[in-house]
Amino acid sequence: MKNLKLFFILIIFFLIEIGFSYAQNKNIPPKKNVNNCLGCHQHKDEMPDDFNKEDVHFKAGITCVDCHGGDNTSKKQSIAMDEDNGYLETPTKEELPKFCGKCHSSSTYMIKHKSKVSTDIVKDYFKSKHGKLLKEGNTDVASCVDCHSAHSIFNSKNTKSSVYALNIIETCAKCHDDKELMTKYDIKTTVVNNYKKSVHGIALLKKMDVGAPACNDCHGNHGANPKGKKKVVEICGDCHVNNMDLFAQSKMSKEDDFDAKHGCIACHTNHLIEKPTDKMIGIQESSLCLDCHDEGDKGYKIANILHSYLTKLDTTYQYAKNRLKIVVESNMDDVDLNFMLKEVKQSLIKSRTLIHTFDTTLVGKEVRKGLKLADSTIAKENEEIHASIIRRNGLLIATSFITLIILALFFISKEMDKKL
Ligand code: HEC
Ligand code: HEC
Ligand code: HEC
Ligand code: HEC
Ligand code: HEC
Ligand code: HEC
Ligand code: HEC
Ligand code: HEC
Ligand code: HEC
Repeated sequence: MKNLKLFFILIIFFLIEIGFSYAQNKNIPPKKNVNNCLGCHQHKDEMPDDFNKEDVHFKAGITCVDCHGGDNTSKKQSIAMDEDNGYLETPTKEELPKFCGKCHSSSTYMIKHKSKVSTDIVKDYFKSKHGKLLKEGNTDVASCVDCHSAHSIFNSKNTKSSVYALNIIETCAKCHDDKELMTKYDIKTTVVNNYKKSVHGIALLKKMDVGAPACNDCHGNHGANPKGKKKVVEICGDCHVNNMDLFAQSKMSKEDDFDAKHGCIACHTNHLIEKPTDKMIGIQESSLCLDCHDEGDKGYKIANILHSYLTKLDTTYQYAKNRLKIVVESNMDDVDLNFMLKEVKQSLIKSRTLIHTFDTTLVGKEVRKGLKLADSTIAKENEEIHASIIRRNGLLIATSFITLIILALFFISKEMDKKL
């Protein structure tokens, strides 16, 4: 009985002891709160060159040890950076996708961090030319760090990010503007320069219009193609919806050969997209149509008709625009006229979009509508100009009349002076 009591007391002591040590263990600060890696590296001036305190990982509490492993509670390099304590060799270029993928491919990890960042990135990356070649051991291509850096990673909306719309061009240019490297792979060395000269490049880099596509908007961020597209060229239709819808209905469009002869880039090119003009269509030397259509075929004939339609509407529009200038200079009412002229311009823009159907009936209908609007605009402009002439003439007659009376009065008074 006495032994049994002693036994229970011992057990109670034992349990208290366990609870105590458990509580004590809980008091050991979690590894997160110390960062001897950072401390020593800062002290020894061994910080990576690209380190930035605003880095997304650093700000989210993901520090050295989370990527590099090791024991961050030790102040001794030999312990902190010991492989037996989980320290990893600095990854080689080929190892990077797996290294970053440790977290970025793990949905459990990313959900725990309440992050909405996609976990398909590494999988997508290996579908791209870059990824495929890296897998084969090619280290010329871009891996994660080439585009993102290792210690200055920011959200892509942050203007400091290497993948921010206005910075991505230079990020790709590091390699794609490297003539020697690109020649090795038989890739055109004009890609970056042409892009910078294009309507898109000027809009993005000069006008800071982030709605204009940067390299990754057409090529996708990681995959071979932009999301949901079978081919890169299909992306044009995401922004130029009308052009795509109209062109897709035309005989020239062919889904299975959209990237070469039968799609947008056959006429506009991919990187050196210039501001389109009426000169690009027709049978004159500057026309693109002649690249593929010869005298006598249907495309040639239609090119000629469409060009004449557009030129007619454009010349009439320019005439109406010049007449409006005269109305304004004569200080006449231009409120309605401004509105009317805008409608003519809209019709001209619409006609230029409609040529993507290569359908003379459809374009013809819009052009006739535009011409009708232009005619009534010009008629009203002429009325205003006429009215201004009458007003001016009226004024002239009135002033001449007054001058005559003054002159007459002058002579009469002189005559009267003589008589007196
Ligand atoms: C007491 C100082 C000290 C501590 C603590 C320390 N390091 Fe280092 N670390 C260094 C020094 C010095 C170098 C420079 C190269 C060398 O001596 O290996 C270095 C180099 C590195 C490198 C580059 C290795 C390479 O391949 O060039 C990495 C990565 C690194 N440390 C990560 C860590 C991490 C992660 C921790 C914490 C778990 C850590 N270090 C803790 C001093 C330290
Ligand atoms: C998001 C993961 C990640 C985090 C967090 C991280 N590193 Fe790195 N670190 C890398 C990668 C990847 C490389 C290899 C870079 C390369 O290949 O260019 C690297 C390379 C290094 C190197 C050697 C090359 C160099 O750039 O000098 C050092 C030193 C280093 N890291 C230290 C640190 C320290 C110290 C911290 C904490 C302040 C840290 N790293 C946090 C991913 C990380
Ligand atoms: C230890 C886990 C871990 C590793 C390893 C890691 N990351 Fe991350 N990364 C995260 C988490 C978690 C976030 C989300 C942070 C947030 O939402 O605040 C993140 C965010 C990012 C973002 C920003 C996403 C956005 O748009 O906001 C980029 C880019 C990124 N990581 C790239 C990399 C690259 C490149 C590597 C490899 C060099 C890497 N990461 C390695 C965990 C990790
Ligand atoms: C060729 C350049 C390039 C390479 C290589 C690359 N990325 Fe990216 N990454 C980008 C661009 C561009 C964006 C998105 C920018 C945007 O959203 O506008 C991006 C976005 C991200 C994001 C944020 C995605 C989100 O949904 O918010 C993460 C995380 C990321 N990359 C990780 C990686 C990892 C990991 C690797 C290596 C497997 C890698 N990247 C390789 C260019 C690259
Ligand atoms: C570290 C260097 C490097 C960076 C940075 C880089 N690339 Fe590349 N890229 C290459 C190399 C090398 C190839 C050649 C692979 C081949 O086609 O054989 C390539 C191939 C490509 C291809 C495939 C060309 C083909 O053969 O069809 C595209 C598209 C591409 N890169 C787009 C981009 C974009 C967009 C960016 C920026 C977001 C970028 N690259 C950043 C090195 C790089
Ligand atoms: C408006 C969309 C668009 C933009 C912006 C764009 N590209 Fe392209 N790019 C294309 C299309 C379309 C192709 C041809 C289709 C294909 O080969 O998949 C192409 C082809 C390429 C090729 C292969 C060329 C070759 O000679 O084999 C590379 C490399 C490339 N682009 C890189 C870039 C880089 C780098 C940028 C940014 C400076 C960029 N592209 C901007 C649409 C675009
Ligand atoms: C991300 C959206 C986006 C994509 C994708 C895109 N564009 Fe554009 N594009 C624009 C914007 C925005 C402008 C207007 C630029 C400006 O302000 O001059 C433009 C301008 C143009 C123009 C000149 C229009 C004019 O009236 O001056 C042409 C032609 C053009 N794009 C063709 C293409 C082709 C071909 C493709 C596919 C290879 C393409 N675009 C892909 C957004 C896009
Ligand atoms: C057969 C040649 C050809 C093809 C193919 C073609 N275009 Fe055009 N595009 C033209 C011509 C010519 C003009 C100039 C019209 C004008 O100004 O008279 C033009 C004008 C444009 C314009 C400026 C006028 C407008 O509609 O705002 C855009 C944008 C455009 N094209 C986008 C595209 C897109 C996107 C595709 C693919 C779906 C495409 N084009 C296919 C010949 C072509
Ligand atoms: C890159 C080559 C190329 C260019 C440039 C080109 N076309 Fe075509 N076009 C074709 C092809 C291919 C077809 C389809 C022929 C077929 O299969 O019957 C076609 C068909 C047509 C058709 C339909 C003919 C029919 O039989 O009904 C018209 C109309 C047409 N093109 C007009 C034009 C005009 C206008 C231009 C200049 C703005 C132009 N094309 C520029 C290649 C081109």
